[in-house]
Amino acid sequence: MHADLISHDEFEQIRRFFQHESGIALPDTKRSLVSGRLTGRLRALKLGSFAEYLHFILQPGQELEKQMAVDLLTTNETYFYREPKHFTYLQALLAEWSGDKAPLIWSAACSSGEEPYTLAMLMAEAFGSRPWQILASDISTRVLESARTALYPLTRAKELPQPLLKKYCLKGKGEYDGYLLIDEKLQQRVQFAQRNLMEPQRLDSKVDIIFLRNVLIYFDNKTKAVILNNLSRCLKPDGLMFIGHSESLHGISDQFVSLKPALYRFTGGRT
Ligand SMILES: C[S@@+](CC[C@H](N)C(=O)[O-])C[C@H]1O[C@@H](n2cnc3c(N)ncnc32)[C@H](O)[C@@H]1O
Repeated sequence: MHADLISHDEFEQIRRFFQHESGIALPDTKRSLVSGRLTGRLRALKLGSFAEYLHFILQPGQELEKQMAVDLLTTNETYFYREPKHFTYLQALLAEWSGDKAPLIWSAACSSGEEPYTLAMLMAEAFGSRPWQILASDISTRVLESARTALYPLTRAKELPQPLLKKYCLKGKGEYDGYLLIDEKLQQRVQFAQRNLMEPQRLDSKVDIIFLRNVLIYFDNKTKAVILNNLSRCLKPDGLMFIGHSESLHGISDQFVSLKPALYRFTGGRT
């Protein structure tokens, strides 16, 4: 199957499907990327066209295959200690934290887990064995499965400060040479769950800080506003929202004030 074999109509159908499932509007420029990512499934299912594939995954009982399509169409790039300025700021904030409880942090588009495990390392530094936890979620079950294994190629940790790497990661040996495993005690503090940002969110308790980095970029402004509204229901008044440095909430929500580049304070939520 050649990437060009996706017709204009088929691309439109897949675009509508993915937007319905994830809220992401794929631009025309992603046409060959889409066909490249899905071609393997067409082959595995012995289907002759993207139209047949779409018809197949939308049938009742094909939820797993449908989830696989969503997984394949999401972009999951991430690594440990990505955008380090955020972590420098967070480290200072945690060191001065005056609440009687450690803050609850939610990594709301966590991909394969590098971001929530980075957060867990900083929480462990600040709060040690006191009670604390990190919530982490993503729409893709494939990346969540990978996050739960807590096993990563060392190349993903190039930006991670050496002291954190040494203290919280086990270096693989033998068949695991070139890999790191996140310390078991940290793994136990990170709870992974599948969540779709497009849906109204509910958590057992409101969180102090949300990391929503490098995902807003994929949505149009109207959808960004829906997502912020969904998430802010779970954020404490004055809670913090970290977004990616290439993203902005300007003109999207008047319930957040800018504190620093890519960092906002939630000003709503008081009832
Ligand atoms: C580029 S990664 C960002 C990972 C991490 N936050 C970082 O900054 O390194 C974007 C993640 O958003 C997830 N995502 C996309 N649409 C989503 C949705 N509607 N609900 C939840 N997660 C979504 C993707 O599956 C992907 O893993």
